[in-house]
Amino acid sequence: MKICRRPGRRSVFHCFMKVPGKIKKIIGTRTYTENTVGKSGARVLCFDDMVLKIGAGEEEAVMMEWLSGRLPVPEILACEREEGASYLLMSKVKGDMLCAETYLCRPALLTELLAEGLKLLWSVDPSGCPCAHATNQKLKLAESRVENGLCDREGVRAPDRLLAWLKTHQPAERPVFTHGDCCLPNLFTDGKKITGFLDLGACGIADPYQDLALAYRSLRDNLRGKYGGIPQPGADPERLFKKLDIVPDRKRLRYYMLLDELL
Ligand SMILES: Nc1ncnc2c1ncn2[C@@H]1O[C@H](COP(=O)(O)OP(=O)(O)OP(=O)(O)O)[C@@H](O)[C@H]1O
Ligand SMILES: [Mg+2]
Repeated sequence: MKICRRPGRRSVFHCFMKVPGKIKKIIGTRTYTENTVGKSGARVLCFDDMVLKIGAGEEEAVMMEWLSGRLPVPEILACEREEGASYLLMSKVKGDMLCAETYLCRPALLTELLAEGLKLLWSVDPSGCPCAHATNQKLKLAESRVENGLCDREGVRAPDRLLAWLKTHQPAERPVFTHGDCCLPNLFTDGKKITGFLDLGACGIADPYQDLALAYRSLRDNLRGKYGGIPQPGADPERLFKKLDIVPDRKRLRYYMLLDELL
């Protein structure tokens, strides 16, 4: 879930790699480009009209299936496990990431689309959602990452102290459906509406501030040019709150941003 927010380098490859038979049958020897935007460690191979994600967590396919018909999400074309690796073949979402240059240069439109995305997420009826306690799941994952020294390696200062603080300061939550990693590269648009939500492994029921915090931070940092885009000095990310008619609770924003530091 670490946040690189610029498109990665791409080259065209021919598909002779070793993949499960069922997936091989669908992709044949078609060419693909490898997308290196994500930082989860998964490989994302983009074909003309499909995407193969190798190394997605099991939750991602479960959530993709549950969300089908509830939100615009990719269609699962095949989902296989082989020799400990997971292979999720899905349809390619139309449009472009919200962090594409064309939207970064139009901050008012970008903010409107992001607000639209958040409203769509929160409008999902959460009953029956496969992950009912997303914040507890995140805290458990954070705990295991801290215990295994992964956060030290990623340069988080005093991760054990941060984890202890997060455990004792967990806010009371208003339960809504949340994306869990609601940053600009995980939302696609055609410039008029949200065409797809991606990277669904952290979805679940949590507080709306889970998504608001990461969406706001991603908007702010992208508009500052943190991920390589042209900085937009006149753009005010606070407009996101206005668009949503929310007076931001800064403590809550901070809690979910800090939790994400350990993930
Ligand atoms: N179904 C899809 N349709 C179109 N583009 C896709 C699709 N799946 C992935 N991508 C592209 O690949 C990028 C990385 O995919 P994804 O977010 O699933 O990877 P990740 O490594 O889990 O990312 P993160 O670092 O956010 O956890 C996306 O931002 C998007 O640009
Ligand atoms: Mg992503």
